[in-house]
Amino acid sequence: MIFENHIDCGDFTLEKLTPTDENAVALLTVINDNRLFLGKYLEWVDAYTTPEKALANIAKTHADDVCSYFIIVDGRIAGKISFVDTDDNMGEISYWLASKYTARGIMTRALNLMTDIGFNKMKLNRIQLTIDVDNTDSDAVARRCGFQLDGVLRQYFLLRGVPCDMKMYSKLKMDK
Ligand SMILES: CC(C)(COP(=O)(O)OP(=O)(O)OC[C@H]1O[C@@H](n2cnc3c(N)ncnc32)[C@H](O)[C@@H]1OP(=O)(O)O)[C@@H](O)C(=O)NCCC(=O)NCCS
Repeated sequence: MIFENHIDCGDFTLEKLTPTDENAVALLTVINDNRLFLGKYLEWVDAYTTPEKALANIAKTHADDVCSYFIIVDGRIAGKISFVDTDDNMGEISYWLASKYTARGIMTRALNLMTDIGFNKMKLNRIQLTIDVDNTDSDAVARRCGFQLDGVLRQYFLLRGVPCDMKMYSKLKMDK
């Protein structure tokens, strides 16, 4: 399945960046500037310490058969939203925003758009999000987009070795 390179969302775009050294440095800069903010819930930021690592991520996202996009505001990298795990029925979405781009409704609109792609293009029936029980901002995004709480997965995830309880949210195409 082929996904578009560029989706216009008004005041932001979803884009598959070209894997260039310039984009790698830009991505690494955003991660460095938001290391504490993102790292509170996302352990992968710890491993993002070199432009090579950022370049590999951009290259992976650039592939047109993966549903994964950088969020671009005024030409700058503001965040990312991706399907991180999929099968014929289910897709799991993960996302992040740099702190200066929060509180504008960007992720709410990006998640609604990705959900739409998941149901209508990828023909998924279930789209899910796993969210740390303390992550109230992400929880609010899920609820605003009509995701429903399935339950709490106890110690589902280890964040730097510390067990975290995660809320499992889902949205179903064939909601009964
Ligand atoms: C989770 C995360 C993406 C949420 O970001 P966010 O800015 O709160 O979410 P949105 O972009 O949807 O913006 C929502 C806010 O904009 C406001 N808003 C403004 N215009 C809006 C619009 N058109 N539509 C919806 N909300 C709008 C909302 O009221 C809300 O503000 P509030 O929290 O003060 O009520 C962000 O906190 C983040 O990246 N955190 C670190 C990484 C992380 O936790 N990732 C998720 C792991 S599960």
